[in-house]
Amino acid sequence: MAMAAATAATLILRTTTSLFPSFSCTTKSHSFYLKASIMEGSEITEEESKGADEKKKIFVAGATGSTGKRIVEQLLAKGFAVKAGVRDVDKAKSTFPGSNPHLEFVKADVTEGPSKLAEAISNDSEAVICATGFRPSWDLLAPWKVDNFGTVNLVEACRKQNVNRFILISSILVNGAAMGQLFNPAYIFLNVFGLTLVAKLQAEQYIRKSGINYTIIRPGGLRNDPPKGNIVMEPEDTLYEGSISRDQVAEVAVEALLHSESWYKVVEIVARTEAPKRSFEELFGSIKQR
Ligand SMILES: NC(=O)c1ccc[n+]([C@@H]2O[C@H](COP(=O)([O-])OP(=O)(O)OC[C@H]3O[C@@H](n4cnc5c(N)ncnc54)[C@H](OP(=O)(O)O)[C@@H]3O)[C@@H](O)[C@H]2O)c1
Repeated sequence: MAMAAATAATLILRTTTSLFPSFSCTTKSHSFYLKASIMEGSEITEEESKGADEKKKIFVAGATGSTGKRIVEQLLAKGFAVKAGVRDVDKAKSTFPGSNPHLEFVKADVTEGPSKLAEAISNDSEAVICATGFRPSWDLLAPWKVDNFGTVNLVEACRKQNVNRFILISSILVNGAAMGQLFNPAYIFLNVFGLTLVAKLQAEQYIRKSGINYTIIRPGGLRNDPPKGNIVMEPEDTLYEGSISRDQVAEVAVEALLHSESWYKVVEIVARTEAPKRSFEELFGSIKQR
């Protein structure tokens, strides 16, 4: 009996550490109890994890946004628990009507600094997905406050809580100047409003130097309509046009949690009708990080 329990615990630990390399059984002991349904490749069955109903919890910043909302919905559908970091809890409750025991809301304004964010993330989140983006306003510094400092604050908050998995929704063309796209209308347009792409690029660079296990997802133009075409994934600084459904962006963010091929990578994504359908192992695996 004791031997069986020890074997099950070892298997759970092995699987958990392969998904989340910084996993520490001292700081996140609850993580020993994972739903078998979200552990790809695991030999553990529902039976072996019986009695343990805690799910892996993911903190989503910008959960009330058009992409963030889809990320939350897809995480819940895939068997994760979600801590939705939002500026306005009442608004969030109306964005996600009904009650779900695996969805909680916490106040989290990314401009308020890493300490408050660390409190919001708490010590029970295994990974952070950042889907924030400044809301247009008269404040010309808003892109810097949200898309740069806000993201940096989130990374610092992760450090405080020993969270070592960070997924960022960024944008294609963030490095447009280096790609020879200085005169690309999209690059000009997005930078006219507070140097948005430059702000995002600098936040990306901060993440990459931080040592955290990151996946930076750079989508093309975002669409609200359902997916048309298959996902095309390319390395950083290659795509300079194209669009993609927010549903597919959310899917890539959630799948990044499940595939180690996504670790420490920047991926650019659009959708194309003529593109072949590829698995996420293939998509992430095809990217060789420079
Ligand atoms: N639009 C495009 O075509 C496009 C293309 C490529 C990449 N992107 C990027 O993709 C990401 C998602 O875009 P989206 O259009 O889906 O986003 P969105 O609908 O504009 O949502 C933005 C989210 O960020 C939150 N937010 C804003 N300021 C915040 C703050 N100070 N603290 C915490 N949260 C804050 C908003 O919260 P509230 O709901 O409280 O306002 C909202 O949840 C953005 O980074 C965007 O730049 C967009």
